[in-house]
Amino acid sequence: MSEIAKLQALEILDSRGNPTLAVTMTLANGVTATAKVPSGASTGNREAVELRDGDKSRYGGKGVLKAMSHVEGEIQNAVRGFDANDQKGLDKRLCELDGTPDKGRLGANAILGVSLAASHAAAKDGGLPLYATLVDKPANLLPTPGLNVLNGGKHADSNVDFQEFMISPVGLPSFSEALRASAETFHALKAVLGRKGYSTGVGDEGGFAPQLKSNEEPVELILEAIQRAGYKPGKDIVIMLDPAASEFFDEGSYVFAKSDKSKKSPTEMVALYKSWLQKYPEIWSLEDGMAEDDHAGWQAITKELGGQIQLVGDDNFVTNPEIFSKGIKDGIANAILIKLNQIGTVTETLDCIQMARMNGYGAVISHRSGETDDTSIADLAVAAGTGQIKTGSACRGERIAKYNRLLEIERELGSKARYAGVSAYERRKKAVGA
Ligand code: PGA
Ligand code: ZN
Repeated sequence: MSEIAKLQALEILDSRGNPTLAVTMTLANGVTATAKVPSGASTGNREAVELRDGDKSRYGGKGVLKAMSHVEGEIQNAVRGFDANDQKGLDKRLCELDGTPDKGRLGANAILGVSLAASHAAAKDGGLPLYATLVDKPANLLPTPGLNVLNGGKHADSNVDFQEFMISPVGLPSFSEALRASAETFHALKAVLGRKGYSTGVGDEGGFAPQLKSNEEPVELILEAIQRAGYKPGKDIVIMLDPAASEFFDEGSYVFAKSDKSKKSPTEMVALYKSWLQKYPEIWSLEDGMAEDDHAGWQAITKELGGQIQLVGDDNFVTNPEIFSKGIKDGIANAILIKLNQIGTVTETLDCIQMARMNGYGAVISHRSGETDDTSIADLAVAAGTGQIKTGSACRGERIAKYNRLLEIERELGSKARYAGVSAYERRKKAVGA
């Protein structure tokens, strides 16, 4: 009775006001479940293809009516009668039906909508929450969040080249306490910015997005905010960065077009990060410090800094098991960012997480800069037990929805809930040799 009976798709808006897909699956027994698909801005070149209509008369070409019709037409015909509990089988069928390596024919947005709706439908059918059914042995581990409290790069109209400056409350005893400390720090940061006469308007992921003097100033401001909120930088709360360096890499150089217009070679870039780590030992994680096309740069930074901090690959690995396994062989990074829509199915996403675990790599579950109120990644982080999630700042409804979902899960799990916090942080630190 858990056979798929019907698929419906709807063109909805994401948090940036761009169209995206909601997919509703109905099972033969009447159970229905909906998944909503996110969308990135600083995307990796090898991400699965998000199918957009290209019809300039609608949403500037960004409509998703084609993807919608694929869900309700070809995909529905191919999966009707299929058991929603067989996630692997369903995802395999979806990939085969598409037939391209990048899911470009039917669209990764269409495919992920169906794949994720099936996860939800199966959970609902079994009368269980999603975190209890996504993997065979769910971990009950509440992740340490990374809250992107200062936005730059492609996510903000400011003069900061680096995209994300995150606070991570590793030293708090539980997820709810960690979230409280983070929200308090977010408010303290607002006050710090206000005192300096800086704007407190927010960027795409809910972090402040002021005009600043340098790419380094955000770190200073955040350290001050942590202290003003009554926490110890480096102990209670650490800092994570995502420069999203692919966005400012041009013909072999890193160009700070938004700030001081300087140009840096890959070697100089590594040296810059190294000097930051010396100056700011509170920085513990660096994502996309080098550009996805700068393979040699990635190898160099891993050699130079991989023993000190977490180096997360996002644009270069694109949650693709095949690409990630090559990266592991080449000695690149020591952690991976996990985004469901970079690859397009739940199964391949779980495969990447498993691959990270088997190879001693960290895994950070992540939202996209274009989001909806879908909270699947909160359940994914708990079930897969990766111990880390980044899903924006302490404001904007689409970000808060995920944190609030984690609070609900924490309450539901009761005494079984564990918080990754400092233990995951220390375990990772040990793994990278710091
Ligand atoms: P994106 O940004 O969703 O715009 O790709 C998030 C990230 O780079 O981690
Ligand atoms: Zn990133």
